[in-house]
Amino acid sequence: MNSARTILGFAAAVCLVCAVLVSGSAVALRSLQVENAERERQRNVLYAAGLATPDEDLDEAALAARFGDIRAVVVDLETGEELPDVDPATVDPLVEAGLADSSRPAPDNPARIRRIEDRSVVYRVEPAGRLEAVVLPVRGQGLWSVLYGFVALESDGNTVRGLTFYDHRETPGLGGEVDNPAWKALWPGRRVFSDAGEAVIEVVRGAAGSPLDDPHRVDGLAGATMTSRGVTNLLRFWLGEAGFGPYLEQLDEAD
Ligand SMILES: Cc1cc2nc3c(=O)[nH]c(=O)nc-3n(C[C@H](O)[C@H](O)[C@H](O)COP(=O)(O)O)c2cc1C
Repeated sequence: MNSARTILGFAAAVCLVCAVLVSGSAVALRSLQVENAERERQRNVLYAAGLATPDEDLDEAALAARFGDIRAVVVDLETGEELPDVDPATVDPLVEAGLADSSRPAPDNPARIRRIEDRSVVYRVEPAGRLEAVVLPVRGQGLWSVLYGFVALESDGNTVRGLTFYDHRETPGLGGEVDNPAWKALWPGRRVFSDAGEAVIEVVRGAAGSPLDDPHRVDGLAGATMTSRGVTNLLRFWLGEAGFGPYLEQLDEAD
């Protein structure tokens, strides 16, 4: 009897100590996680903007230096206006897209975006204060998963500077080839909009021409037609009226 009580007491004490340790370390590591997530975001913005490559091992100081010319701004997606009074560090578009009071239902779309956040964060590449490029967050359905990434456009709001995905679960060697540097190298110089201002960029089945001869089309991923189509759909959605279209129009006017 006595020993049963001792065992139970010991087990309870072990549980209590473990619970305190786990919750304590979760709290202690929280700020580190936030910092790491922010650094990861900065790295990916740099990759899209062509200011760093994934094979570079950038330490904290190098990352901060590279990111020095980049200014994050909060944008009202509906009007396309920047919200200078809102601190970008306080806005997580993916979180806001999941909340009813900071997002709205998306029109039916093949990228399968269900809700659009009211505000997003755009990264302006501004060396010496002059706008060179904008980096926009994009996401949309591939074959197996939602692809999350960034597309960078030159200051004309039309010419692609780069594209990168930081999260997806497409098949390595098939849809996963969205991460292949050789495929990503096909993007700079492509034009996302037609002369009429429609987002017409397309990942085609098979091969496309050079950016000069075939500006709106990019080679498809071999054996991954669905993922390729997903990339087309998500870019067209986020560059269109429901996404960053209004912001890009303002950019054009400011030129
Ligand atoms: C195990 C497995 C994984 C696949 N992964 C992908 C993928 O990540 N992306 C994709 O578009 N298609 C993928 N596919 C292929 C599609 O299921 C489909 O066969 C293909 O898109 C059709 O034609 P395609 O060869 O013209 O791309 C996969 C197929 C299999 C069997």
